[in-house]
Amino acid sequence: MAADVPDGYDVLVLGGGSGGYACALRSAQLGLRVALIERDKLGGTCLHRGCIPTKALLHAAEVADTARDGARFGVNSSVASIDMPAVLRYQQGVVSRLHKGLQGLVSAATIDYFPGVGEVTSPTTIRLGDTTLTGRNLVLATGSRARSLPGLEIGGRVLTSDEALTLDVVPGSVIVLGGGVIGVEFASVFRSFGASVTIVEALPRLVPAEEESISKALERAFRKRGIVSRTGARFAGVTQGESGVSVSLEDGSTLSAEFLLVAVGRGPVSEGMGFESAGVVTDRGFVPTDDRRRTNVPGVYAVGDLVPGLQLAHRGFAHGIFVAEEIAGLAPEPVLDRNIPKVTYCDPEIASVGLTEAAARAAYGEVRSYEYNLGGNGKSQILGTAGFVTVVRAVDGPVVGIHMIGARMGEQIGEAQLVVGWDAMPEDVAPLLHAHPTQNEALGEAHLALAGKPLHAHA
Ligand code: NAI
Repeated sequence: MAADVPDGYDVLVLGGGSGGYACALRSAQLGLRVALIERDKLGGTCLHRGCIPTKALLHAAEVADTARDGARFGVNSSVASIDMPAVLRYQQGVVSRLHKGLQGLVSAATIDYFPGVGEVTSPTTIRLGDTTLTGRNLVLATGSRARSLPGLEIGGRVLTSDEALTLDVVPGSVIVLGGGVIGVEFASVFRSFGASVTIVEALPRLVPAEEESISKALERAFRKRGIVSRTGARFAGVTQGESGVSVSLEDGSTLSAEFLLVAVGRGPVSEGMGFESAGVVTDRGFVPTDDRRRTNVPGVYAVGDLVPGLQLAHRGFAHGIFVAEEIAGLAPEPVLDRNIPKVTYCDPEIASVGLTEAAARAAYGEVRSYEYNLGGNGKSQILGTAGFVTVVRAVDGPVVGIHMIGARMGEQIGEAQLVVGWDAMPEDVAPLLHAHPTQNEALGEAHLALAGKPLHAHA
């Protein structure tokens, strides 16, 4: 419901995804008069087409793997079938409970929520149908969408993650184009549900943004799971028929499967929204900002996936909160991409924060790193997972990067980001206790080793 704001709002937020709604909630907490405009559903990509529904699928996939692998632990079990409509009902149940909760949060806050398509008409106005909203600050939070390649049309058996999330059959076979985060997560789900999966990645390794050793370990683990990785392979074209797709690669080879999933990155959502009317400079549709999330136009900010850099929901939340506090005059600390934690929820999981060893060397010259193998970690052995934790420090300096792979490693990212975010020295972390037996001990062991007093570590 719109309040009567004759002098206009303090903040107009365009887009109700992670970045936008976080900004609106924090603005309201700070006593700013805020309007939030959303054309679809509150929660955006993360809640409806991204993080939450995909992680629900990944959890169902884990349940299938656990059932299939039971005999390994002496529990004889098997997967009778995957009931995809039931999996989707479970997934949608999670999404709709969270959606209701979020709607409740926003309506309980002093936020004027405007459902509808907003168009920026100047640095201080947004048009919404016949209404024009005025605000002294504008926050652009319109997010991102799956992109494709030139000439590669989505439709039929050629899917993006949007369509893959609602697929109500278990495919017999899938080709995944792109071995980045979305590609490896879906490859993992499809394989766990029983499909044959081939990943086609143009760069020489899967998850190319991660530490090289992590990519190698993932490729090895995927190979063991029967997932084929074609790295260094570029897509040339696709044709589709009644029952499948035929994908040709630039090296002349051809692959066939029931579906092609296109996961080659996400592009900005900014076309036709009037950003140019406000004089906002865009770069291939993204809105560049400085570290304080200011665009080139005073009073106009951008947050979340629309801003070039990591496209992660928690970055969006942090951007949104930052901008609200900035507008309220609290001079908050900028949110920099460097220390934003990342988790990729494939099996095995990948979690990392801070610099890779190569990036740390470029920044600090000499660095020390220690890789603790999960082979020495009791809880990991109990779970039957392989992997490692690598901690990178500047010589005689703080920990600047942590990189992990193995089952449930995403759960370790909390401590890892505190260590890196607080510039902790391994010597600061070493005396802190890690409960036994937990996978968390692997992090403790790596810090002990870097502090010069390894415990369960082979030389
Ligand atoms: P991405 O940028 O992570 O990966 C795309 C991959 O496609 C790259 O490795 C690229 O080399 C490859 N590629 C591009 N063109 C190609 C071609 N012609 N042939 C073969 N390979 C080609 O993008 P992705 O996976 O689509 O994800 C989009 C965004 O969503 C990312 O920023 C990601 O971080 C975010 N996301 C985060 C998740 C998480 O935090 N768990 C889960 C899913 C997505």
